[in-house]
Amino acid sequence: MSPYPNPICVALDTPDLDRAVGLARALAGAVGFVKLGLEFFYAHGAAGYQRVAECGIPVFLDLKLHDIPNTVAGGLRSLMRLPILPAIVNVHALGGAAMLTAAREAVHAVPSPDRPKLVAVTVLTSLDAIDLATLGFDMSEGADAAHHALQLAAIAAGCGLDGVVCGPAEVAAMRAGFGRHFMTVVPGIRPGDAATGDQKRIATPGDAIKAGAHILVVGRPITAASDPLAAVRTIKAEVDLAHEAAV
Ligand code: C5P
Repeated sequence: MSPYPNPICVALDTPDLDRAVGLARALAGAVGFVKLGLEFFYAHGAAGYQRVAECGIPVFLDLKLHDIPNTVAGGLRSLMRLPILPAIVNVHALGGAAMLTAAREAVHAVPSPDRPKLVAVTVLTSLDAIDLATLGFDMSEGADAAHHALQLAAIAAGCGLDGVVCGPAEVAAMRAGFGRHFMTVVPGIRPGDAATGDQKRIATPGDAIKAGAHILVVGRPITAASDPLAAVRTIKAEVDLAHEAAV
C-alpha cells in the first residue's frame, strides 16, 4: 500500500510551456505529483520548471542523470539551488556505485525535510528480456528484467538512495528485499483500455498499488485523454479500491 494518499504522478511530457502549466493547474488537487522530464526541461529549463512548480503540486524532476560521478554530482548541486526544490530527482543506477554515492552526497547537502528524494532508474520499463539480451546483459539461468532491476536496486540501496524507478512486476520483490520504506516509483502504468505505446513491462494502476507501489507514473493515458481530469479520477478510484483491498 502506498504511503502517499494520492500516489498518482502525471508525466507532463510536452515541449509546450502553456500546456504543461495548464495541465498542472487543471489537475492540481486531483494528482499527488507532476513529473517534468527531458522533453519539457530541454525546452524550458529552470525557468519553465519554476512556472510549473509555482502551481503548488510536488514535482518529480525526471532528468535521469547518467555520467561520471563528478558531473552527476555537479548537475544535482545545480538542481539543489532551484528556488522551489523538486520532491523527487533521479539518476540511472547503471552509472555505478561511485556515481550513486556522489549523487547522494550532492542531494544530502540539502537539509531535511526540504531535501528531495533521490531514486535510481533500474531497468527502463520500455525494455524487456530480449532487449536486455541484445544489450549484453547476462540472461542465463532464467534471468529476466526483474533480476537485473533487483541487482541494480541493491546497489542503489547500498549507496543510501531513497528508492528506485522500476517496473510494476518488480515492486513486490523490491519491497521484500529492501523494506517497505524503500521508495518504488513505477511507470508502465496502463489502465485496462489504454494503449501500451512503447512501454513493455506494464500493469494496471490497481495491480501496481496492490503490489505495494509507492508512486504511479502515468503519462499518455492522462495527457492524451480527451478529458485528462476525468482520466485521473477514474485512475484514482481504482487506486482507492486497491488501497482498501490492501488494508
Ligand atoms: O506516457 P507514459 O505513461 O508511458 O509515460 C511514462 C513516463 O515515465 C515517461 O515520462 C517516461 O519518461 C517515464 N519513465 C519511464 N520508465 C522509466 C523511468 C521513467 O517510462 N524507467
